[in-house]
Amino acid sequence: MDTSEIRRRFLAHFEAGGAWGAHTPVPSASLLLDDPNLLFVNAGMVPFKPFFLGQETPPYARATSVQKCVRTPDIEDVGKTTRHGTFFEMCGNFSFGDYFKQGAIELAWELLTKSVADGGFGLDESRLYPSVLAGDDEAVELWMKATGLPRHRIVGLGRKENYWSMGIPGPGGPCSEILYDRGPEFGPEFDPATLGPDMPVALEDRLLEIWNLVFMQDELSAVRSKEDFDIAGSLPKKNIDTGMGLERVAFLMQGKNNMYEIDVMYPVIARAEELSGRRYGADPVDDVRLRVVADHVRSSMMLIGDGVTPGNDGRGYVLRRLLRRAVRSMRLLGYEDPALPELMPISRDKMGETYTDLVTDWDRIARVAFAEEEAFRKTLQAGTQIFDLAATDVKSSGSTVLTGDKAFALHDTYGFPIDLTLEMAAEAGLTVDEEGFRGLMTEQRQRAKADARAKKGQHADTSVYRGILDANGPTEWLAYETLSTESKPLALLREGAPVPVLGSGEVGEVVLDRTPFYAESGGQAADAGRIEFDGGVLEVLDVQRPVRGLVVHQVRVLEGELPADVSQLHAQVDPEWRLGARQAHSGTHVVHAALREVLGPTALQSGSYNRPGYLRLDFGWTTSLTSAQVKDIETVSNEALRADLPVGWQYMTLAEAKDWGAIALFGETYDNSQVRVVEIGGPWSRELCGGTHVEHSSQIGTLVVTGEASVGSGNRRIEAFTGVEGFKYLARERDVVAQLTGMLKAQPDDLVGRVSDMVEKLKSTEKELEKVRLAQLLAAGGLMAAGARDVGGVAVVAQRLEGAGGGDVRTLATDVRARLDAARPGVVVLLGVNDGKVAVVAAVNDAARKVGLSANDLVRATAPHVDGKGGGKPDMAQGGGTNPAGVDAAIEAVVADVARVRGA
Ligand code: ALA
Repeated sequence: MDTSEIRRRFLAHFEAGGAWGAHTPVPSASLLLDDPNLLFVNAGMVPFKPFFLGQETPPYARATSVQKCVRTPDIEDVGKTTRHGTFFEMCGNFSFGDYFKQGAIELAWELLTKSVADGGFGLDESRLYPSVLAGDDEAVELWMKATGLPRHRIVGLGRKENYWSMGIPGPGGPCSEILYDRGPEFGPEFDPATLGPDMPVALEDRLLEIWNLVFMQDELSAVRSKEDFDIAGSLPKKNIDTGMGLERVAFLMQGKNNMYEIDVMYPVIARAEELSGRRYGADPVDDVRLRVVADHVRSSMMLIGDGVTPGNDGRGYVLRRLLRRAVRSMRLLGYEDPALPELMPISRDKMGETYTDLVTDWDRIARVAFAEEEAFRKTLQAGTQIFDLAATDVKSSGSTVLTGDKAFALHDTYGFPIDLTLEMAAEAGLTVDEEGFRGLMTEQRQRAKADARAKKGQHADTSVYRGILDANGPTEWLAYETLSTESKPLALLREGAPVPVLGSGEVGEVVLDRTPFYAESGGQAADAGRIEFDGGVLEVLDVQRPVRGLVVHQVRVLEGELPADVSQLHAQVDPEWRLGARQAHSGTHVVHAALREVLGPTALQSGSYNRPGYLRLDFGWTTSLTSAQVKDIETVSNEALRADLPVGWQYMTLAEAKDWGAIALFGETYDNSQVRVVEIGGPWSRELCGGTHVEHSSQIGTLVVTGEASVGSGNRRIEAFTGVEGFKYLARERDVVAQLTGMLKAQPDDLVGRVSDMVEKLKSTEKELEKVRLAQLLAAGGLMAAGARDVGGVAVVAQRLEGAGGGDVRTLATDVRARLDAARPGVVVLLGVNDGKVAVVAAVNDAARKVGLSANDLVRATAPHVDGKGGGKPDMAQGGGTNPAGVDAAIEAVVADVARVRGA
């Protein structure tokens, strides 16, 4: 049964639902949901988390989905075990306070054991072992009743297996894994009655977990490990969350050995076999590499599909690692040409049947992936040289260990993966201080995490806000309708805790029953303004929505003091501020549309920020823009302003919005039922957006693009000023021009010509100067040659040159040597002193070499005196030192060396 049929049957089973009621099918959410603690969606329940926690009311009591998931902590195990994939699909059914243990158990058992002809999976009951959390007798009873199995067939396991949480604070509960016995080829015999509380490692392959039924009832406040966590209390309702591993069921039903061999993955292995000439199944080491390739190619494609671009931390880092490991594995298989253009399309053809965006977005996905492979190939080239230097250094210092810092620098600066460093070190006969390296890596990651946390702001603990929301319902939010309203405070907070009063000068938070203030979201900064009440005024510093539905104003008390029970207050958004914000946000959409017009539809926004007067837009793009492209973007934008395009918005379903060609941005979560689409000039710009906008594009005023730059690999940033700030920016530039025209006494149009003339002139003057200096130097050469002293029949010029650098000293030494009598032995040693450094050059003529004098030896003779080193050839050698005070002694040493050779 192929994967898509398994997926279809799963959803159909729950959509029908039988005695337990129909489930609403919910499409997979993006891999990137906005949860600060979660890099990627890693379980089917993640998109439903607010429902489980009671933060939001689910629009259905039961749901079913097949969710895209990425888990990377086990990345090193990929290919080595049968079941670790970095990307996988989780089939789940969910009950939000509806059925509980009995429903979950009966529904799962029925689907697994129902015959294939009847729409089930037809698994052999005698191979299935339900497991429960040891001590959960209720679950044991329910299993026996549902399956008719004797008690000893129901396995009791400890918390490690049968208590499930997200690994972070949030919902959790005891669970019940359904295990499938793959038979004696895969592990030792066992007795289910005495198995547990831990699953023996030897049985992990034999007893394959295929489905996990979580009886979600607890809210966890801290999770230290699978077994060690704090339960803060019960969830508002008892829920069900299950996860059936699509790939695992597929490999069982397809009679394969592991998940990498199933219908949607094996074709990549097959292509890799063709490319590399290696055969799958011939060599266990190659097999692991081939499986890594199949897994990583698929995972990285899915991540790019959902908007991740390669980078050096967070999600981007995971993607980079996956892509590089795939490429590297191909190299280790002996294939050195670009591999992804050969492999990724194979994966697209398979996965694209379900995730059609992979096909429609292919150009963008391919561009990102292939550019990263190109960059990595260059890294391999450059890094190899750096590695060789580091290895030589290590050896010449007499060590055999490449230090942690070196390995880290190779990684951090050149993007060299540690496994590559390890391997190359081994080839060079060195080991690597891996522990030191890992320590540095951990530090770096912690820094990145701390940054991410700091960015998320102060609303880490949302329980207080949730309490306010539960007690009062959502804030009546009027930002689209009005700039001012009368309202009432629902709560005052200081440092996260409710207070009865906000005193004069204090900063705190105010929650109102209704508000016209826009809370920061979708890239648009929060509104500024004031809140007035009888006897005082508050300045609004920030506005956030820490839990959905609740608007919280951070304020400073400017006048008076605000009691929590004040009967009425007046909330007033600063109209100037809001106008600026609307201009900037509409401006962002205009720039985005212009960008896509100029660069093509594969240029897609990956992030944005706008506040009155300013906007920036990040987009996935791998090369820097030419100045002509930047100019075009600005021109297209301003044409759109001048065309005075109407700006409008309307609500529709996500599906309708997509049909309409609206752009949904990555990483944003959209309400399942209704989304807001903002359009400018009809189809010219249609985006899902909750921001505030102008009504006509000309109201944006001006749009001045000020820069374009890289923000990490694969992403560029374009910045612009709008409205009056755009005008001010141009005025400042005009001012600069005015100052220059004044200074140069030129017309503005002549400025460029004048300045470029000046630059030319400066260059030729510098050249002249250089010539003069050289002439002077050479004149000095004549004097030096004439002043040579005789040491044992050798003409010796040994001198200090004040202010001369290495290049000059060398030129001069060669010149002086040429001026000496060629028939007689002659040596020249010049020591230039400049900036606390000494440059030493020795030149000897042929006659001197014949009598045993060597430039190399002479430079060496100076070295101890000037704290230097150096060397070269017998006729010409060069060195450097750091002790100008030793120059005289060095000159003495030269004379002494000549005298020694001449026996004088
Ligand atoms: N959320 C549960 C899991 O991921 C079903 O195993």
